[in-house]
Amino acid sequence: MENIKLELIDEKYRQYVFELLSRLEEHSKESYEHSLDVAEKSLALAFALGIDGDDLRRLYVASLLHDVGKLFIESDLLHKQNATDEEREMIRFGHIQGTKQILEDVFDDEIVKIAFNHHERLDGSGYPDHFRARKLDVLDRILQVADVTSALIMSRSYKDALAAEQVIEILDKLVKSGELDKKCVAEIERIFLIPLSGKKQPIL
Ligand SMILES: [Fe+2]
Ligand SMILES: [Fe+2]
Repeated sequence: MENIKLELIDEKYRQYVFELLSRLEEHSKESYEHSLDVAEKSLALAFALGIDGDDLRRLYVASLLHDVGKLFIESDLLHKQNATDEEREMIRFGHIQGTKQILEDVFDDEIVKIAFNHHERLDGSGYPDHFRARKLDVLDRILQVADVTSALIMSRSYKDALAAEQVIEILDKLVKSGELDKKCVAEIERIFLIPLSGKKQPIL
């Protein structure tokens, strides 16, 4: 866990965050790696958008632990190549409820909220509550964009990684359809994706 920014985790939470992440690593190495990647992307986005202080610290912990509810889903099912629709639903709703259950007794409400909202979408098409834009603040939006980007750019047991150009295309579509935040997507493309793609960086 050498990539973890200790100074951004409130001392009272540190040990528990480590414990949860090591349990996740044991249960699903790819979920663990995804979580660290999402946290790194959330952090970079937050810096770019001028977020600091408690907001930054809460976003960081929520990003590290957003998928920790996968501990409640059997590892075989989590890594299954051809999961049925029913199984997929179980993973979708099960992991989000699991995350809430694990976090709510220990962490402050704002951390629980950000983590719980990571599959919500600005147009109301997300889950579990179908919240719309006005209920999703900038911290929620950052985690949503970091999560989608990480899921697309990394390979998983059930899917290959996509090239940066393809990820940019998909993210742009998700902005157009009203699902993801435009500013967050523009920043994540600028920081992580354009440098990996054949596209030229705009000269600022
Ligand atoms: Fe998730
Ligand atoms: Fe995730």
